[in-house]
Amino acid sequence: MTALLEIENLQTHFKTEGGVVRAVDGVDLKVNEGEVLGIVGESGSGKTVTALSALRLVDEPGKIVGGSIRYDGRDVLSMNKKELTQLRGDRISMIFQQPRVCLNPVISIGRQITELLKQHRDISSKEARNTAISLLNSVGIPDAEKRFSAYAHELSGGQAQRVMIAIALALKPRVLIADEPTTALDVTIQAQIIELLRELCREMGTALVLVTHDLGVVAELADRVAVMYAGQVVEETDVETLFSNPQHPYTQGLLSSMPVLGQRAERLTAIPGTVPKPSDMPPACRFAPRCKTRISLGMDICNQEPPQLLRTAKGSVRCWAIEGAS
Ligand SMILES: Nc1ncnc2c1ncn2[C@@H]1O[C@H](COP(=O)(O)OP(=O)(O)OP(=O)(O)O)[C@@H](O)[C@H]1O
Ligand SMILES: [Mg+2]
Repeated sequence: MTALLEIENLQTHFKTEGGVVRAVDGVDLKVNEGEVLGIVGESGSGKTVTALSALRLVDEPGKIVGGSIRYDGRDVLSMNKKELTQLRGDRISMIFQQPRVCLNPVISIGRQITELLKQHRDISSKEARNTAISLLNSVGIPDAEKRFSAYAHELSGGQAQRVMIAIALALKPRVLIADEPTTALDVTIQAQIIELLRELCREMGTALVLVTHDLGVVAELADRVAVMYAGQVVEETDVETLFSNPQHPYTQGLLSSMPVLGQRAERLTAIPGTVPKPSDMPPACRFAPRCKTRISLGMDICNQEPPQLLRTAKGSVRCWAIEGAS
């Protein structure tokens, strides 16, 4: 199967006073038509920077310094302004963690949708209005015709995120990147929003890239999963394999720190240690200092040479302890 969106060896760096932050340092990802790809990893692992890079939305002092991004076979890194506008509107869209920040406070929500539609489609104002109302309906905004004229501050957090979803899907993109779309919301609303995203993407055949901390959501929704650690993908595979047979010691650690229904919080095992600071990266394998497998097998190579991403039967993994890696 040819991938719709294919990222290879992506490097996105930030030039800061303290030196170069290698936020994304050799990321490989593939998104196939219509599938749900989950991206998981601890805070600071480079999930958001990867997502922004895919749309070339990384701002100064950040810069994509290496690798390739292809959408439908076309080179995103060499696209001009016009091609990029088309890519971001029609082909790939993105929703963020903080819906209200992304909504324009002085334009009604309905007009934000109609303007987008008119910018990209040759339609009349009336058609645009009808489409916007039906979109607001489909994302579960009650009384959509009346709410058309509402402003962002008049919406609850959950409603604002629903409107963001309506905007993101207005042009029927082939890929929707949702970066922690529910973390700012109440737990009860989170499940509804995730369910809504899944339903709408399925109906439209839109591939969904879901960036999340929540392995429960991944288990329920994703077809494939990429696990990120310190700016790299350390394991990528289908969701069944990830949960039944995780290969990378980091993935194993994440899974064992997952809350089990009915288990008391004190008994959960989190991975000891913290994600390395970009200014203080381990020289070889970035997970080596926290890796139980390295310690129990007494492996020196993990501190000497960076492991490459190795293809496995069901995906890929970056670890010296995997057979065939050395
Ligand atoms: N504007 C910036 N300037 C310098 N460093 C940055 C900038 N933006 C991000 N970074 C760094 O890039 C790294 C990756 O950040 P990113 O936001 O992608 O992480 P994340 O995986 O999305 O984390 P979270 O789960 O907290 O959202 C971090 O070390 C972060 O400090
Ligand atoms: Mg993030």
